[in-house]
Amino acid sequence: MNYFLSFSFMTCKSFLHPRVSITAQENENGKSYSTKVARNPKMERLRYNYLFPEISARELQHVTEYPNAKVISLGIGDTTEPLPDVVASSMANYAHSLSTLKGYRGYGAEQGSKELRKAISETFYKDMGIKDTEVFVSDGAQCDISRLQLLFGSNMSIAVQDPIFPAYIDSSVIIGQAGDVENESGTYQNVEYMKCEPQNSFFPDLSKAASTDIMFFCSPNNPSGHAATYEQLEELVQFAQKNGSIIVYDSAYAVYITEDRPRSIYEIPGAKKVAIEVSSFSKIAGFTGVRLGWTVVPEELLYANGFPVINDFNRIVCTCFNGASRIAQAGGLASLSSDGFKAVLSLVDYYKENAEILLETFQSLGLRAYGGINAPYLWVHFPGSNSWDVFNEILEKTHIITVPGSGFGPAGKEFIRVTAFGHRENILEASKRLRNLFS
Ligand SMILES: Cc1ncc(COP(=O)(O)O)c(C=O)c1O
Repeated sequence: MNYFLSFSFMTCKSFLHPRVSITAQENENGKSYSTKVARNPKMERLRYNYLFPEISARELQHVTEYPNAKVISLGIGDTTEPLPDVVASSMANYAHSLSTLKGYRGYGAEQGSKELRKAISETFYKDMGIKDTEVFVSDGAQCDISRLQLLFGSNMSIAVQDPIFPAYIDSSVIIGQAGDVENESGTYQNVEYMKCEPQNSFFPDLSKAASTDIMFFCSPNNPSGHAATYEQLEELVQFAQKNGSIIVYDSAYAVYITEDRPRSIYEIPGAKKVAIEVSSFSKIAGFTGVRLGWTVVPEELLYANGFPVINDFNRIVCTCFNGASRIAQAGGLASLSSDGFKAVLSLVDYYKENAEILLETFQSLGLRAYGGINAPYLWVHFPGSNSWDVFNEILEKTHIITVPGSGFGPAGKEFIRVTAFGHRENILEASKRLRNLFS
């Protein structure tokens, strides 16, 4: 029996993974061999095979049709600029020390090194009363989102913003919390989709989540780029308190906030009783490939029976994770040192300038573009259009890859998402091509 492995590399790291598809080949007797193991029906439910392979297929088709075109990807939510030397050197030095008898270390604390937990609590949660022991270092926010799903189990009701980063829903489907796809727009049963649109200042009608246990909330939001205001987050926390819900707050893009907006849910009084925060070094320090993140679980957060959630999360971390790479943690610590933090923030500024260029481009063309001020994403509205048609037109006429908004939920059907991660020359070239197309 032969198996052919084909790889196609997708564009947006956050949810476009290298695809591996394996095709079983018949043997010489015309029979193919399968194991007796049934495919997990929850995996079969995933809508995964719909949007992004389609983008990949269209990209491939485009490259075949236009072999000389210089395709620019503004679809990738991946960082592009090199790590600051102070950060890369710390990892190189740490890795080298592992080759010495004196420097060698094996397993570390499952929750992360004491120094890094302390540095995270002091850098991002100053004056918010978050203890270093409430910070759990991870290999990235996406991994912790899945671990949180495992923690809460499949009997929970969940609510998500619409549009939203797809990982919350996909991991809900995998653990069996979300049901079948219920309609053409690809929404799942047992998930409350809370519309966040320009008309409601990108903040949902929370009454829709009245029967919800776990509310996923991402600010600044991927894809809309909206950073919730103090008033909006106060409303969210008060709602969770009244409703008895837990908020899983994703602050992966908090360092991109320019305006006066909360950078953490714990800036809101009472949040420690109702919220977990997941975050990441990926977009702060260009660690998308290095892999490092963290989750804060406050001691005050309790289950209905009064048991502390932190104790169970600790158990999940010890059982399902075993701790972040020591080398990545050395890099994380260096990026929070005073020189390191200055250096990584200047990279953040670079991407923010890219976002300004793109925002100015769309606005000068009379298009409604949201985000880009407090986030490295722009959410561009094409009223009355279908996001796939817009994606196709832009690709066809400018050789620029974007992401059709419908991939982030039904509320995205008239939008495209454009990322500000990219080399400056590509951003400027993309701006020129977009001006030619739309002016
Ligand atoms: C909102 C949001 N959360 C989490 C992640 C994943 O972060 P990490 O790279 O730490 O897994 C992403 C990545 O694009 C994201 O957009």
